[in-house]
Formats: sequence, structure tokens, C-alpha cells
Amino acid sequence: MKSLFRTSIFFILAVSLVSCMDNSKPNYQYMPNMYETVSYEPYGAYDVFVNQQEAKLPVEGTISRGWMPYDYENSMEGFQAAKANLENPLPYTEENLQKGEALYTIYCAVCHGDKGDGKGILVQREKFLGVPSYDDVGRAITEGSVYHVMYYGLNAMGSYASQTSIEERWQIAHYVMKLKNDLEGGPEREYVNEEDLIPAVNAEKVMEPLEDSTTTEEENQNEE
Ligand code: HEC
Repeated sequence: MKSLFRTSIFFILAVSLVSCMDNSKPNYQYMPNMYETVSYEPYGAYDVFVNQQEAKLPVEGTISRGWMPYDYENSMEGFQAAKANLENPLPYTEENLQKGEALYTIYCAVCHGDKGDGKGILVQREKFLGVPSYDDVGRAITEGSVYHVMYYGLNAMGSYASQTSIEERWQIAHYVMKLKNDLEGGPEREYVNEEDLIPAVNAEKVMEPLEDSTTTEEENQNEE
């Protein structure tokens, strides 16, 4: 009898507690700081900020770390200027060439072919047309023009700026120029001996991002 009494008390208590619960309202919060942070939320709206926006745009002309502005614009003039003036900052070492070859095989060979003759697998299967050979006399590609088309793309060929780093593009450019030379039957280009390099002109140094925030505005828009 006693235990039945206890059970029913417990039952009534449980029912009355649960019945107070209202799912349409937030429940009690223990340690509310874990839910409501004291600091600003990344995308929150707060009166202290202009437009109430916590998330700010970077200062105009900001250059992100590890990224260098590319000085040639995406136009026929930019292409011609890069073709004439832009030079590969990486030394022609065996290591750079090997990396270039690996990257070329990943990104370019499907269209341009392992030899650079424009007969990649997609071209053989007629999935993609109009791929030139690197020794095309009319095009007379240079390391600068190769870099430029990788950066911006050219007509049916897409840009590789988002998939590759600056250094990787220059490694590919070395390899493309080697393929061109091989197609033309030119003499093998000699490697630069890494030990002969003055540390300051070493690849790493050339690729290092600017320390201070030297700025160019329209470059920012080209960042992918
Ligand atoms: C999807 C196929 C495709 C891929 C992949 C591709 N290309 Fe191309 N490429 C083309 C086509 C098509 C053209 C001709 C564009 C034109 O002149 O209209 C071209 C042209 C070129 C040219 C000649 C530009 C000039 O001066 O006329 C170079 C150099 C070149 N590609 C390099 C590369 C490199 C390097 C890669 C890899 C990072 C690559 N391509 C990947 C299709 C491709």
C-alpha cells in the first residue's frame, strides 16, 4: 500500500513537471556564455559597426599572404606584353623541370599531349578540337606567353590560376618550353647547377610574398 502511494506521488510529480515544458520557447540555459558569446559573432549584426556588419571587407588594395599581383592584364595588349617581356624567375634546374613535367601531365597533357604536339587523349577522341602544337610557328610561344595563358586562359582553354601556385605555373612553363624545343629538334638546354646559384636569386626568394603591403587595386579582382 505504501509503495503504491509512493509510486503515485512520483507519477503525479513527473507528469506535472513534464507538462510545464513548452517546446515553443527556449528552455533553461545553464552556463549561457557557452551559447551567447561575449565577443562578436563573425557574421553578426551590431550597432557599433558601419552597416551593422561585423564581417569587414579587407582594406582596398590588400594582398593576401603568399599571393603576388600579376602585372599583365587580360587583354591582347597584356598578352603581347607578357609574351615579349615576362621571364621565368625560376632557375632551369632538374628539380623544377621534373615538377613541371608532373604538373603538366596532370593539367595539360589531356589536351596538349605528352609531347606537346596538341594530340592529347581528348583530341584523339575528338572531344576537344583546336589544340595547337607548341612548335606552331604562327604562335611562337615564349615562357611569358605560356605563363599568361595559364593565368587567364585563352578562348576554349580555361585558366589554371586557381589550381596552381605561381611557382607551379613557372615550373610548368619551363617544361612547356622544353617540349617546344624537343618538337623543334633543338639542342637540349643545360640545367643550372643549384649550387652555383647565389642564395638571393634562389627560387624560394623570388617567390616570397611581399613583406610590406605594396598595393595594386585592379590586381585584386583577378584573384581566384
Ligand atoms: C581542355 C583542353 C586544354 C587543356 C587541359 C589545356 N589547354 Fe592549352 N590550349 C587549349 C586550346 C584549345 C588552345 C588554343 C586556344 C586558342 O588559341 O584559341 C590552347 C592553347 C595553349 C597555348 C598556346 C597559346 C598561344 O600563345 O597561342 C599554350 C602555351 C597552352 N595552351 C598551354 C597550356 C598549359 C601549360 C596547360 C596546362 C596548365 C594547358 N594549356 C591546358 C586547350 C587546352
